[in-house]
Amino acid sequence: MNPVKSVAELDHAHVWHPFTQAHTAPAPLPIVRGAGAYLYDEQGKAYCDLISSWWVNLHGHAHPAIAEAIAAQARTLEHVLFAGFTHAPAAELAQALTAALPAPLERVFFSDNGSTATEIALKMSYQYWYNRSEKQRTLFLAFDGAYHGDTFGAMAAGRTSSFFNPFQPFLFETRTLPWPHTWIGDHDIETREAQALLTLDTVLQQDGHRIAALIVEPLIQGASGMRCVRPQFMRAVIERVRAMNILVIFDEVMTGFGRTGKMFACEHIGITPDLICLSKGLTGGFLPMAVTVATDAIYQAFLGEHFSSAFAHGHSYTANPLGCAAALASLHLFNEEGSLQKIAALEHVHRDALQKLAQHPRVNCPRVLGSIAAFNLDAAHAPYDASLGRQVQQHCLDAGLIVRPLGNTVYLLPPYCLTPEQLQDTYDTLTKILDRCLDSKGSTPVSTGF
Ligand SMILES: Cc1ncc(COP(=O)(O)O)c(C=O)c1O
Repeated sequence: MNPVKSVAELDHAHVWHPFTQAHTAPAPLPIVRGAGAYLYDEQGKAYCDLISSWWVNLHGHAHPAIAEAIAAQARTLEHVLFAGFTHAPAAELAQALTAALPAPLERVFFSDNGSTATEIALKMSYQYWYNRSEKQRTLFLAFDGAYHGDTFGAMAAGRTSSFFNPFQPFLFETRTLPWPHTWIGDHDIETREAQALLTLDTVLQQDGHRIAALIVEPLIQGASGMRCVRPQFMRAVIERVRAMNILVIFDEVMTGFGRTGKMFACEHIGITPDLICLSKGLTGGFLPMAVTVATDAIYQAFLGEHFSSAFAHGHSYTANPLGCAAALASLHLFNEEGSLQKIAALEHVHRDALQKLAQHPRVNCPRVLGSIAAFNLDAAHAPYDASLGRQVQQHCLDAGLIVRPLGNTVYLLPPYCLTPEQLQDTYDTLTKILDRCLDSKGSTPVSTGF
């Protein structure tokens, strides 16, 4: 009889992992359970999940209220196709989301993940103009360093990230704008913002009438390294594009549901986009689900006597009742557990801790926004798998902290249930690790691979 194989052996033999160079990466760590902000391995060792499992977890792992909502829904109705049918969890979730979002975001289109949410927003905005006989609007505006997902439209909008080089020949035309990334204590920001706006003015002058929509991660770009801009810059951009009737898509896949200290990042800016994309935290981190929410004006442009003007897009699991039940339970927890107040307390700890960390000569560009804190080790520009970041990651893992630097950008983005004391403890550990990995002279550390 064959001996029973371990999870690690089965994984090694059969699984292909995302965003991983399997040839050089350390073996993935089997996790057996989660509770609160912690994940546990097969030996029972606890790891503090400081990146909320790729930014999805909000209220803690295996939260009983969300687990129970999913279980109860599974016993009642696990799924029904969403064309020609509807159900209470979807209708109630759509109502709850539109109530939480600023007006006039009123129409909720369901899908499965962040990439589909942005793909749908791009398709909707193009077809909006198509249906209104402005078919020349085939261009999109996006920012340098943007990341909107891995499907083809999302890749086109995020073409400047280095992830998609092999696919460049397939990516449709976009115009890329500079992103004036700023941080605490940055003195040149006005100049960089003015230059970015000048570039925008030139693009609008040349191509404004051909542009369907601007897509942007409002206030903070996630995957390119938690790069912040100021709300006034966002407002100046949107004022200019709206003057040319260009639609505005906010990709709040990462920033939605409290991440930036407000329920949605657009609240910091004081502008309601025409389309907003939400996913990640939507179900509290339990199930894959996304929504693209549109204004009524956009929805109206798809109504007509013929199917040809309808939005011919959908997925088998669109509006899955289990995902909707999880999302409703997660939204309730915001009130029941005072999530926004918890985020404010985490932000406070982040600010104090980063002020101290930034005194190290090799720690640069500290930045904090709500539950998110980030800083760079040495130069801001380093490849995704830069060795210094990987070394910090490995030391943290050994010490029971899950981080996943983006290049040389170290960031913390914890679940909201992490207490301020626990967050402070993690900063104490992180400081010791950085002291070990960095010497102030800048010697190159040994790579641990990726
Ligand atoms: C801003 C943003 N948009 C879209 C996506 C894609 O989401 P998903 O990985 O769920 O497809 C991500 C993922 O990190 C993201 O950060």
